[in-house]
Amino acid sequence: MKIDEILNKKELCRNDIIFLLKADKENSKKIFKKSEEVKNLHVGRIVYYRGLVEFSNKCTKNCYYCGIRAANKESNRFEIDDDLIINAVKFAYDNKYGSIVMQAGEREDSKFIDKVNRLLIKAKKITNNKIGITISLGEQNENVYKKWYENGAHRYLLRIESSNKELYEKIHPKNSHHNFDRRINCLKLLKKIGYQTGTGIMVGLPFQNYEHLADDLLFFKNFDIDMVGMGPYIEHEQTPLFKYKESLLPLSERFDLTIKMIAILRIMMKNINIAAATALQAIDPVGREKAIKIGANIIMPNITPTNRSDYQLYENKPCIDEGADDCTNCLEVRVNMTGNKIGYGEWGDSKHYAIL
Ligand code: 5AD
Ligand code: SF4
Ligand code: FES
Repeated sequence: MKIDEILNKKELCRNDIIFLLKADKENSKKIFKKSEEVKNLHVGRIVYYRGLVEFSNKCTKNCYYCGIRAANKESNRFEIDDDLIINAVKFAYDNKYGSIVMQAGEREDSKFIDKVNRLLIKAKKITNNKIGITISLGEQNENVYKKWYENGAHRYLLRIESSNKELYEKIHPKNSHHNFDRRINCLKLLKKIGYQTGTGIMVGLPFQNYEHLADDLLFFKNFDIDMVGMGPYIEHEQTPLFKYKESLLPLSERFDLTIKMIAILRIMMKNINIAAATALQAIDPVGREKAIKIGANIIMPNITPTNRSDYQLYENKPCIDEGADDCTNCLEVRVNMTGNKIGYGEWGDSKHYAIL
């Protein structure tokens, strides 16, 4: 059978990937069996935590899909004070999370850049240099990336959103502040500086087809990326893309397609870190667990101390009313149910990066 043949290949080509993305239920089970095997063999049944602090929803950009885009006047803007953010870091450290992720809307002003520098230095200091730090703070100049690296950030997430320039330009305003080539160049800079570099895309966007998705996976592979986060696109009423709502795949199909993307990526890139995106849980209450079972190995419990409901990039975001403690306990049970264990107190670096 064709599916078995493809799953046994050393390298998947574009047509193979498209075939797998279109697989029916029966064939999908075979894909998942394979991806689960690959995961267990190459990264083990271990899931690493990244305590996620979404510390500000102020953003200078206007991505057409995002609920906190600058032009959304209904979004309630916040920026959390350093002390509270550092308390959250302390919480992550005390609870043996191993790593944190600091995320915010995109800004390039010096006030913001300095705040990040302060936070990095403090986060390292209060954890005896132990906490692993990933940042996800958008496009910046090389010197800024360098300074943040020197101050202790060692992993960077910058989703390309779509690796297809044409599609990218359909989901962003056409101006110099939303430039596909700059984004690609930022990824290159991050890699050059020495960050473990992560990227990702959204699945189920308007105008997106199987070919785009196959090319996204090949982009990750060709770029030799260390980490990937992919989540389903979830429409937000206060955004320009909302008007394409009727043309989208139903949520459940967007979910299934995202899970397939994760499984195929695991088969293609055996030892990278793959996150179980929170957006999966906005569709399916056990969405992240499903992703872990078939290939993901990173989960990002939200430890943002305040304003969680204001960081709504998409609708139906989970864990908005829970506190950090709730999520920790809840997640441990959930991860254990998938037959995985949590790698407490470890950085959980991408094995792909380590082997370089
Ligand atoms: N649905 C799903 N994901 C979204 N993001 C932004 N808006 C949405 C949405 N409506 C994702 C983008 C961004 C990340 C921080 O959140 O991929 O890079
Ligand atoms: Fe800003 Fe990121 Fe939302 Fe774009 S996706 S509007 S950069 S927060
Ligand atoms: Fe947040 Fe379960 S993970 S409440």
